[in-house]
Amino acid sequence: MQSLAIVGAQWGDEGKGKITDLLSKRCDVVVRYQGGNNAGHTIIVSGQKTVLHIIPSGILHPHCVSIIGHGVVVDPHAFNEEFDQISKVCSITPENLKISTNASVITSYHKILDAAREGQGPVKIGTTGKGIGPCYEDKIGRKGIKLRDLSNKNVLFEKLKQSFIEKEILLKELYHSEFPSIEEECDNLYQAGQRILPFLTDTFSYIDHAVQNGKKVLYEGAQGILLDIDYGSYPFVTSSNTSYGGIYTGAGIPGKLIDEVIGITKAYTTRVGTGPFPTELNDEMGKFIQTKGKEIGATTGRDRRCGWLDLPLLKYTVKASQLTSLALTKLDILAGLDSLKVCYAYQYEGSEIDCAYPGIDLEKVTPLYKDLKPFHDDFSSDKLSKELNEYIDIIEKTCQVPIGIMAYGPEREEIQFRKQYF
Ligand code: GDP
Ligand code: IMO
Ligand code: MG
Repeated sequence: MQSLAIVGAQWGDEGKGKITDLLSKRCDVVVRYQGGNNAGHTIIVSGQKTVLHIIPSGILHPHCVSIIGHGVVVDPHAFNEEFDQISKVCSITPENLKISTNASVITSYHKILDAAREGQGPVKIGTTGKGIGPCYEDKIGRKGIKLRDLSNKNVLFEKLKQSFIEKEILLKELYHSEFPSIEEECDNLYQAGQRILPFLTDTFSYIDHAVQNGKKVLYEGAQGILLDIDYGSYPFVTSSNTSYGGIYTGAGIPGKLIDEVIGITKAYTTRVGTGPFPTELNDEMGKFIQTKGKEIGATTGRDRRCGWLDLPLLKYTVKASQLTSLALTKLDILAGLDSLKVCYAYQYEGSEIDCAYPGIDLEKVTPLYKDLKPFHDDFSSDKLSKELNEYIDIIEKTCQVPIGIMAYGPEREEIQFRKQYF
């Protein structure tokens, strides 16, 4: 196996950071290909917590080269802050961190616009407020700023001017927001950019050469397939392709196809922000899972909504992203419950549906649950209880992919491999 992708198989926060960190031990290059600092990827090693937002989750391994691909949106100020924070735990140099010259720049205007839209509607998505959507809009609208533009103040100023023409009207007339002048924004971005320039490179050619030299590459997705701009629960999604397809557009896969795509899923379901959530538990059990699972957003600190595992959605994400195996995380949170349910299908317009195809309105489905025998494993040995094996069995049979990894705690080593990767 030479290349592997890690993709969130739900609405994000499935434990991608933990699994990426662990597998980085066995690979040479880790690549982020989409999203930005809306992501929050947690790694816990001997009680020490590291949360990564934009820097790839391979960074804690000195042998591993971390790459931020051209599909990523970068807030230079947030990057510098994270750089300073993470530099306290490990060394970051242009040798082990490489950033695409073509990655897009998040400006203050993007963040102000994001906040104004969330505050004043018409649709409240519950974004992370990091300016992600407005930045991708500019990229697609061909008026975005690229990281390479930070090397020349005159170029940066001209590009900011172009991209600001429409925004000025929006911010002034529609949202009545305060915003910095172009001169001020240009100065701030240029200054912040000086620290980033040494890391800029052509990341596609770097990955190409790595692959040609037999290096092992891991692609680290941010968010989850259900937040994908095309495959997700639109409009309550993020603004990038979080699924497998995003790797092609956001980093490139030189040479050949990816050998393995691991979908990371919690043993239950969570979601932050607004949008449909068929198995959401607005009761004591939901609150219990939220508390025991410490389900609080790593980026925004918001409580995550919690519910039972939704197999129709998982079956869909397996198909939507060509997942070849699953990693099942947070099993320890379900262990010891009095009751355990799994949603195996929906009742929808008079029929029973077992796959949440995009044609289905998730607001209108009634989840159908199977009551399972709760499991009480303490994961002190590799042997699993009959009840836990049944839980795993139903997921594997429904989704038609094996569970290759099981995680039962936040620490790096609290994991069991059922399949060999790398
Ligand atoms: P990501 O965005 O997919 O990387 O996930 P987050 O880091 O946002 O959220 C996952 C949370 O669950 C983090 O706090 C992890 O430390 C924690 N975590 C990951 N796997 C497990 C697990 O198996 N059990 C428990 N209890 N916590 C886990
Ligand atoms: P990781 O990588 C969970 C959600 C937001 C909101 C929607 C749009 O840690 O799994 P955005 O700021 O991207 O425009 O917000 O997407 N969201 C996430 N939810 N985990 C994430 O990242 C998320 N990144 C964005 O809550 O509903
Ligand atoms: Mg997260």
